[in-house]
Amino acid sequence: MEFLELAKKRYAARTYRQQPVEPEKINAVLQAAYVAPTAANLQPHHIFVIQKPENLQKLSKAANIYHAPLVFLVCVEESAAWVRPFDRKNHGDIDASIITDHMMLEATEQGLNSVWICYFKPDVICSEFDLPQGCHPVNLLAVGYGAGPVPSPDRHHETRKPLETIVTWY
Ligand SMILES: Cc1cc2nc3c(=O)[nH]c(=O)nc-3n(C[C@H](O)[C@H](O)[C@H](O)COP(=O)(O)O)c2cc1C
Repeated sequence: MEFLELAKKRYAARTYRQQPVEPEKINAVLQAAYVAPTAANLQPHHIFVIQKPENLQKLSKAANIYHAPLVFLVCVEESAAWVRPFDRKNHGDIDASIITDHMMLEATEQGLNSVWICYFKPDVICSEFDLPQGCHPVNLLAVGYGAGPVPSPDRHHETRKPLETIVTWY
């Protein structure tokens, strides 16, 4: 699909059919993560693929995952991420978010729906999944086949600030 067409088609899906996602589609999403760039190519991230009902249940203690049948948990090892020397800014969250965005758009390409979730309790995720020290959850990407109404791909002029208010040309 042409890129802008794909980007316009994607929307935050908050209801899902209880239909599993095919393994080849999960693999395609992971391949998109694999080729994503990270600062200085340091690749400080780790992706957990959460599908088993008991593990989705664990995740539900930390976040509303909208009963999606599949959730990718994207974590970062901050000590492995690039730090800008001038102001010590750690780029791990940015890396994890580029990975997540690649995955989200590939999910759309695969005919899946998704919602990016940051409203979660990190401490609950760390304890429920026994994450290693220093491994920080950054993003959840819930994925599946949406069950709700499909928003128009031409909705953005109503749901986004006007482009001219967010762009300055010098
Ligand atoms: C960084 C980030 C965090 C988000 N966190 C949540 C969340 O915790 N829960 C939720 O339901 N949606 C979440 N969303 C989805 C946004 O609310 C949604 O993408 C936005 O309202 C635009 O709507 P659209 O994706 O349908 O175009 C998040 C999106 C992003 C990019």
